[in-house]
Amino acid sequence: MPIPLLDLKRQLLPIRHAINEAIANVIDSTRFILGPEVVAFEEQIARYTTVSHAIGCASGSDALILALRAAGVKKGDEVITSAYSFYATAGAVWHVGARPVFIDINPKTYNLDPQYLAQNITARTKAILPVHLFGQMAEMEAILDIAGQIPVIEDSAQSLGARWKGKPTGTWGSAACISFFPSKNLGGFGDGGMILTSRQDIAERCRSLRVHGAKKTYMHEEVGYNSRLDTLQAAVLQVMLPYLDEWTDQRRRHAAYYNEAFSNTTIQTPTIHPNAESVYNQYVIQVENRDELRDRMNEASIGCAVYYPLPLPLQPCFRELGYQRGDFPHAERAAAHSLAIPVFPALTQHEMDAIIQIVLDHAATN
Ligand SMILES: Cc1ncc(COP(=O)(O)O)c(C=O)c1O
Repeated sequence: MPIPLLDLKRQLLPIRHAINEAIANVIDSTRFILGPEVVAFEEQIARYTTVSHAIGCASGSDALILALRAAGVKKGDEVITSAYSFYATAGAVWHVGARPVFIDINPKTYNLDPQYLAQNITARTKAILPVHLFGQMAEMEAILDIAGQIPVIEDSAQSLGARWKGKPTGTWGSAACISFFPSKNLGGFGDGGMILTSRQDIAERCRSLRVHGAKKTYMHEEVGYNSRLDTLQAAVLQVMLPYLDEWTDQRRRHAAYYNEAFSNTTIQTPTIHPNAESVYNQYVIQVENRDELRDRMNEASIGCAVYYPLPLPLQPCFRELGYQRGDFPHAERAAAHSLAIPVFPALTQHEMDAIIQIVLDHAATN
């Protein structure tokens, strides 16, 4: 029985009709760029995350670039971020001309470990960019305490709906960035992203940066981007948003089922900090001989993925920063041992039992 890592068809089936209708409405209106659906969806997300402003843009990667620039990061600055994330986290820092300064993760939560922050802050540090990886928020109070006046931008691409001490992602830092990439918990039909902030100045600047740096048409105050959330995407996402909490609950139930099945084994299950409410964008385990398990699962047509096989500081594109193997032992260990297994909302217990069996069989011999 093939089991994909993510089955969007199943998830979307019950709301296909409403989505078709929303798409048809946009086609009828022909307001494809920053149409009323974008404004309405921005307001819905602002309400959902309890922030004052939500600014739609073309992707989560762009959201990071816009937010960093709006927070004042520029050429020659440094931005401290996690050694273990998707490329875009560090790529965005590079794109604004700043230097990513990587710090290691907490090996249990995969998130940037605040204990390494203070020693990496210099006069050039102009932002701190924690990532809420796999759906679990980083330790925000400790990070904000150490940051002091330095702006903290949350990479919330994988964590829409997650909370730290009951307070939603997006409300802790100066701004937060979310992604609507199809594999995210709220995923569109292509690329899309959003900046969340309660700071008026950051919101205004992001709104201008996404339309070529213009506040008034054809009056460009700074060099910006063409980075808008498509009306079609906003229309689709508007239909999905009311289902997000239910989908998250299903992910949480799946995670609990796996946790139970893997307890008292050598399989390392996700550790969720007592202050965190994870939305389980991924359910990531660690095992010995990870590649062997991955191959076994592939052979059995069970989806799984390695997020991420190489820590950011060791990526070839950041070679000139001079990081070496061994500099980030926790991120490197995670890269060698972690494996994401299916946790999508529509996954059945029968499917989970098949996945559990293959993982347990592997653990018993490794
Ligand atoms: C942690 C993280 N940051 C940034 C991004 C970039 O988002 P996007 O793919 O929408 O550009 C992603 C997702 O792909 C991500 O997982």
